[in-house]
Amino acid sequence: MIRIDNIYKSYGNKENAFKVLKGISFSVENGDFVVLLGASGSGKSTLLNVISGLERPDSGSVFYDDIDISELSDEKVTRFRKENIGFIFQQYYLLPNLSVDKNVKMGADLVNNKDYRRVLEAVGLGEKCNKYPHELSGGEQQRVSVARALAKKPRVLFLDEPTGALDEETGRLVLDYICKLQKELHFTIVMVTHNANIADMAKTVIRMNSGHIVETYHNETQKNAYEIGW
Ligand SMILES: Nc1ncnc2c1ncn2[C@@H]1O[C@H](COP(=O)(O)OP(=O)(O)OP(=O)(O)O)[C@@H](O)[C@H]1O
Ligand SMILES: [Mg+2]
Repeated sequence: MIRIDNIYKSYGNKENAFKVLKGISFSVENGDFVVLLGASGSGKSTLLNVISGLERPDSGSVFYDDIDISELSDEKVTRFRKENIGFIFQQYYLLPNLSVDKNVKMGADLVNNKDYRRVLEAVGLGEKCNKYPHELSGGEQQRVSVARALAKKPRVLFLDEPTGALDEETGRLVLDYICKLQKELHFTIVMVTHNANIADMAKTVIRMNSGHIVETYHNETQKNAYEIGW
């Protein structure tokens, strides 16, 4: 379980601090599918970065079971991230000079996973493993980044607007792969989006506004990627 306890985060200096997260607390159960919803500028990406250990909060704690990662040294946070966390951004950040296979292998090598070709197959790109990123469509590139993140078998997969750069058809396809992989591999998902339709796929929806949580609810039934509006 992840427990986020009273997180505050500002940017800028003391006199001129811009408060982005203003006392955020919630918990994420193992295997949950959480969508963080909110308007542009509400602090979603900042919160995701803090929960996943990319950035440190000014105060408050981020517990993974009984480890508070906000108390760990930089070196230990890096190791914790490497062993436990996958992260997918709106931009795919693939390495342009490496083939699809090598890009995914990079993720797998972090934890010495020899079995990474299975994830490549699982996102439907087995046939394209010798291609280079520029030879792929946006949706295919995002599926490579999904495979790269999952090749290291993370406990938690964080996604920041993973379909933000994709058209509807490709966006649905990518979300569908992510959901199917979660059912098979049982990782926890925390996904940021400003598309309220995508929240219908989640188990748990957390809505943010101006650095606060304004609503949390659970969907009784989760829609799949082809049942939601767009
Ligand atoms: N590194 C930074 N330095 C200064 N201000 C920042 C920094 N990162 C974010 N901010 C500010 O914090 C606020 C929240 O940003 P954040 O990126 O978390 O919002 P968001 O909800 O993800 O928005 P979007 O939907 O547009 O991605 C914004 O006003 C932004 O300008
Ligand atoms: Mg953002």
